[in-house]
Amino acid sequence: MHDILAQLEIKRERARQGGGEKRIATQHAKGKLTARERLELLLDDGTFEEWDMFVEHRCVDFGMQEQKVPGDGVVTGYGMINGRLVFVFSQDFTVFGGALSEAHAEKICKVMDQAMKVGAPVIGLNDSGGARIQEGVASLGGYADVFQRNVLASGVIPQISMIMGPSAGGAVYSPAMTDFIFMVKDSSYMFVTGPEVVKTVTHEEVSAEELGGAITHSTKSGVADLAFDNDVQALLMLRRLYNYLPLSNREKAPVRQSGDPIERQEPSLDTLVPEHPNKPYDMQELIVKTVDDGDFFELQPEYAKNILIGFARMDGQTVGIVANQPLVLAGCLDIKSSIKAARFVRFCDAFNIPVVTFVDVPGFMPGTGQEYGGIIKHGAKLLYAYAECTVPKITVITRKAYGGAYDVMSSKHLRGDVNLAWPSAEIAVMGAKGAVEIIFREDKNDPVKLAAREAGYKERFANPFVAGARGFIDDVIMPHETRKRICRSLLMLRDKKLQNPWRKHGNIPL
Ligand code: COA
Repeated sequence: MHDILAQLEIKRERARQGGGEKRIATQHAKGKLTARERLELLLDDGTFEEWDMFVEHRCVDFGMQEQKVPGDGVVTGYGMINGRLVFVFSQDFTVFGGALSEAHAEKICKVMDQAMKVGAPVIGLNDSGGARIQEGVASLGGYADVFQRNVLASGVIPQISMIMGPSAGGAVYSPAMTDFIFMVKDSSYMFVTGPEVVKTVTHEEVSAEELGGAITHSTKSGVADLAFDNDVQALLMLRRLYNYLPLSNREKAPVRQSGDPIERQEPSLDTLVPEHPNKPYDMQELIVKTVDDGDFFELQPEYAKNILIGFARMDGQTVGIVANQPLVLAGCLDIKSSIKAARFVRFCDAFNIPVVTFVDVPGFMPGTGQEYGGIIKHGAKLLYAYAECTVPKITVITRKAYGGAYDVMSSKHLRGDVNLAWPSAEIAVMGAKGAVEIIFREDKNDPVKLAAREAGYKERFANPFVAGARGFIDDVIMPHETRKRICRSLLMLRDKKLQNPWRKHGNIPL
């Protein structure tokens, strides 16, 4: 018995050592933590239950039978984040560069399967050289097994990917199918083909960082939701994100009461919207002043900045915030912002998180770039997302709500539950100037007449009351009472039930 216990400890110790001291030192020298250090930071102290510490690969080619490390390059199991269950896998770059073997994939699949059964999220800490080259197609099969589970888990349990090292080729597609991707600056990258292949095929010279680093993906491609300076910051922020999320689609997000009263008024909001309709203002200010404790967890802050998305709490309840940002492109909807917001609305809908939408949108972005890029289909994604969404939907129009974009932004017509407008709201087909130039074309050479027409149009349409008269707006509210009105609406909507007709699945314009 004593022997077995000693053997067990030896095996465990070997697994804990991963690829050995030298490789751990190299990992640290790159500014990266090891797979186990990362889990220690991510999970509550002493809660990690490890599985499959003794799993080894089965490869016998290229002398691999002589090179076995218990655990096979990935640490898996479950633990707690602020007392709430989570399943995790953390790839160990010190073991075969974290490369994915058949056995390594089986370990990941095992935690994913269990997470689905019990209804708890999966967090993957990715740091891997890709498919285990010595194993060939067996490891490719392993990837596909993970992909299949990613898809089946989508909308059932939240899935979060942290990219903390290389993620190249097939390895990118598992994270790509998860709900959120975080990256670490300077030490992580994601690309389908690396700089060498790019050079050969397209003759472009580009570094790994430029091609697929954290900055690239959080500013240019929109693949990553957030980029962090180092492993520690990234993991601590991941714990914060986790607090907003429900464990599965069978549950609601946890309520975290704050001391922020729902009746709190914000008089400064009464002067947020400038007198001049073309003068921008910062929509962030409205969000921060409205949500609990001014705490807004923004996602994709550096990508498609004309729309803001992120989580906050109101009266302790998680809400998803979507807001046009007049500071950037006047808050127009374009291809990138439509896709960014659509995916977020669908996440909220899948996971029972109410959506609060702040609207100041002059329309869709004009131009050949947008049309050739398919704005029709991409804009339709946001429309589709809002229209299929059955969670509580609260909309506040602060200023412009023009044209088709008015319809799209969680309007009453798309089953908005509570649609409010500030007195400064202008709900119309288009701005007054553009409108009179079309309908009074005969006056185009008479600026005085045109100005009079514009003033008339403004008076008639540039207000919330035409929509209010039809019931498209439930109430016109003072900006300072926005928080109270949203909190009360959320309370009223707490037990909302609405179901879409049965179907295998819809066909969102992709
Ligand atoms: N399969 C098997 N072993 C791999 C591997 C893979 N896909 N990727 C890396 N490794 C091993 C290396 O052989 C090395 O082993 P060692 O410590 O025993 O020498 C170790 O992991 C570390 O790799 P190294 O190349 O020294 O690290 P690096 O930080 O300089 O480079 C990569 C990292 C990922 C850029 C580089 O390892 C690489 O290009 N790997 C292959 C990527 C690939 O083509 N994958 C298959 C397609 S998905």
